[in-house]
Amino acid sequence: MRQRPVIVIFDSGFGGLSVLGAVRAARPDCDFIYCADDAAFPYGRLSEEAMTARVLTVFDRLVAEFAPDLAVIACNTASTIALSALRASFELPFVGTVPAVKPAAEASQSRVIAVLATAATVRREYTRALIERFASHCHVELVGSVHLAELAEAKLRGESVADGAILAEIAPCFVEVEGRRTDQLVLGCTHYPLLADHIARLAPWPVALVDPAPAIARRVDALLARGGSAGPPAVPQLDGIAVFTGRVAEGDAEKLVLKAYGVGGFTLMHLPL
Ligand code: DGL
Repeated sequence: MRQRPVIVIFDSGFGGLSVLGAVRAARPDCDFIYCADDAAFPYGRLSEEAMTARVLTVFDRLVAEFAPDLAVIACNTASTIALSALRASFELPFVGTVPAVKPAAEASQSRVIAVLATAATVRREYTRALIERFASHCHVELVGSVHLAELAEAKLRGESVADGAILAEIAPCFVEVEGRRTDQLVLGCTHYPLLADHIARLAPWPVALVDPAPAIARRVDALLARGGSAGPPAVPQLDGIAVFTGRVAEGDAEKLVLKAYGVGGFTLMHLPL
């Protein structure tokens, strides 16, 4: 391993930024490559076969270019289907992101929890198995959102997104079952924590928003041996690389978003696929 291990944080778009911060804070001794396959965004619309093939293609390039020591699939939609194919194809360790059903079920007082994810993640057998295994004592409202990841991207870019549009996506999570109300809302797509303030403000009653980023950071920390030197790299331009397969990083609004989430000092790269 290099003196400073290299970690790839991968998502279809901006969603992985909600994970990057937590992992970076946990491992200041590592260098980071943020990769967004924005040319194929949103993954929620791709078939399972198309998405798996796409993720494998992107990683072929990432591994060839950067030889990372570990990769975080900071995307539930990709993790719930492509993780085993990635592990079978590449030798590096992969940390996936799956809906945080277990901690939500453990923390719930009302035993009513909601899982909000892309329609694709909601359809997955993997997600249903998680619920059966860890939340059988709870009522679980499984809500597939078609638009929220795209609304999150638009909102971050500063485009006007009506509160009503966000509310329409989250409203089905708030249910009452035999006088008990949803008290935990699992953010089962990494784009959703980027809208946490909006979701909290628009929620019909207060709920805990369950974000998987801290658990992912702990998992990365456990898997990866410590590098040599903590703190920022000596050479500033090595303070990370942000790779985009589409053109997202070229717009001014997108650059502001990246800066807001700590990707400002990163070198931007376009990796056409
Ligand atoms: N950020 C991705 C996730 O965690 C989904 C967004 C998409 O549909 O591409 O599921």
